[in-house]
Amino acid sequence: MNPTIDQMHAHRSVRKYTNDPVTDEHITQAMHAGQMAATSSAVQPYCVLRITDSAKRQAIADLAGPQPKVHDCGAFFIICADLRKHMLIVEKSGKDYDSSLEAFLVGTIDASLFAQNFTLAFESIGYGTCYIGGIRNDLPLLDKVLNLPEGVMPLYGLCVGVPDESPSSRPCIAPDGMLFVNSYPSDDETHAHIDRYNEVYTKYLADRGAKPSTWSAAIAKKFSYAARPGLAEFFRSKGANLD
Ligand SMILES: Cc1cc2nc3c(=O)[nH]c(=O)nc-3n(C[C@H](O)[C@H](O)[C@H](O)COP(=O)(O)O)c2cc1C
Repeated sequence: MNPTIDQMHAHRSVRKYTNDPVTDEHITQAMHAGQMAATSSAVQPYCVLRITDSAKRQAIADLAGPQPKVHDCGAFFIICADLRKHMLIVEKSGKDYDSSLEAFLVGTIDASLFAQNFTLAFESIGYGTCYIGGIRNDLPLLDKVLNLPEGVMPLYGLCVGVPDESPSSRPCIAPDGMLFVNSYPSDDETHAHIDRYNEVYTKYLADRGAKPSTWSAAIAKKFSYAARPGLAEFFRSKGANLD
């Protein structure tokens, strides 16, 4: 195809890393690539925290699972929605900052556009990466570890390092089960796509030596209870308006 698309196709989450470092030069390159992602009206409502302190990393690794890779990977980052700089600008202008759900959504959307560019840049250099949603297991504790000001809202972590494993590539739902023209399909058609995907996903699990299961079984388990129920309270405590 072309080198960009080939690079995207080469993605798989990497969870084991060698002891080799991630260089500052590569981090600077990945930051610039990340920041070139589109951002709503150029508001740039996000920031990245790089955690180098070993004790902080260990505390985050523990609350995220534990997930030892958070401590052991070459570089660990936390991607945050960052409304603080906007709060400061509005206050300095003599007005009151008015929080809104729109501002929170823009923060999470633009942070994620940044994060995927950031991640892809690292992968293009040859590093392996793994996002870490596990940091949301205990955001109040994470906040204590990081002492974040109002307006800064951690969303997920990112491990980066030189790969020490070569996981197989995950099959995707067929594009015609994800790309719809002009209208959303019937539930029967959606079920047919899900059934087809279950077949390839089951084979993927078998190839990885995982317990036999289906994608539907994993989804039914994951979405039949409310995960991480304290999130709204935490984000509100940081100044988000979720109404
Ligand atoms: C926002 C986000 C959070 C994730 N959190 C974790 C995590 O805490 N631990 C982990 O091992 N993998 C995590 N992952 C990786 C996913 O499990 C992985 O992307 C998924 O299984 C698909 O595999 P692939 O990335 O190899 O295609 C996360 C991925 C995303 C996008």
